[in-house]
Amino acid sequence: ANINALFVKKSKKYFGNIGDQGTLSNSQTTAIINSDFGQLTPENSMKWGSIEPENNTFSWAGADYLANYAKTNGKVLRCHNLVWHNQLPAYVSAITDPEIMTATIQSHIAAVAGRYAGQCYAWDVLNEVFGEDGKLEASPFYNTLGESFVKIAFDAAKKADPYAKLYINDFNLDSATYPKTTGLAAKVKEWVAAGIPIDGIGSQTHLNAGQGAGVEAALKLLAGSVSEVAITELDIAGAASTDYVDVVNACLAVENCVGITEWGVDDSQSWRSSSSPTLFSGFKPKAAYNAIVSLLQ
Ligand code: G3I
Repeated sequence: ANINALFVKKSKKYFGNIGDQGTLSNSQTTAIINSDFGQLTPENSMKWGSIEPENNTFSWAGADYLANYAKTNGKVLRCHNLVWHNQLPAYVSAITDPEIMTATIQSHIAAVAGRYAGQCYAWDVLNEVFGEDGKLEASPFYNTLGESFVKIAFDAAKKADPYAKLYINDFNLDSATYPKTTGLAAKVKEWVAAGIPIDGIGSQTHLNAGQGAGVEAALKLLAGSVSEVAITELDIAGAASTDYVDVVNACLAVENCVGITEWGVDDSQSWRSSSSPTLFSGFKPKAAYNAIVSLLQ
């Protein structure tokens, strides 16, 4: 089976996965990517610490590798990410002056989004900026600029790559009644109304067993604030078929859910491999994979 082709045929939505030079140098991984997934997100190579480890010194090799792989193999490219407090070099977190922080965000985004302009279907412009209370969280960006960093980042991304859909991406948006989901949905609606060029909300969807049931209602709530939503980093501890099927059905039920990205090909490669959250183990499809295939067939 090819779950991307089945998903596209049923709904025109993509089913993707992550990659970077390390995992894509393994032929068991590329065999699965090439047979089953239609979209790629760089797991780490486009993050600030990987791509601009020193101020104005760029390390493009890893990100170029992934972008070229996507192009050569006909995969939709989702670019991840421009502004995040993790994997952030010390020269950025040390900035306390608002003007220097603004200029630093703008030049980083101009360089990185500019290099891949026209190649990224979407950019995660902001990653994980909300706290569990649904408010913007302390970070080097928020601490120096307050809420204004949101507009600064999206305006810079729009300027650097006018073709990409610009996303705000976050985790724990898996229930419609959770304060983080309601707070983020309300804030994004306000920002869009104020003219900030936000096209989409990415719901990472790193789940624990049983959480699949809440995803459809949550996605509908998020979809009310923006023109599109996506499931951007799916993995589910234990990989129960029911939860995976719930998530795929949730994206099918929300017209403006444009696709699903699974966060890891094989359990052995996952950031939380001890909880066996992916669709493959030992590079063999698991029950959840077969359940998705039957749902989509
Ligand atoms: O590249 C270095 C290597 O040189 C060094 O020897 C080694 C020793 O620790 O570390 C390597 O870097 C690691 C990097 O992955 C590449 O493998 C980092 O330590 C490690 O922290 C990093 O983890 C990544 C994590 O983001 C960072 O927070 C995971 O691979 C990646 O899957 C994960 O992805 C995030 C999304 O971007 C955002 N949402 C949550 C998701 C899961 O945490």
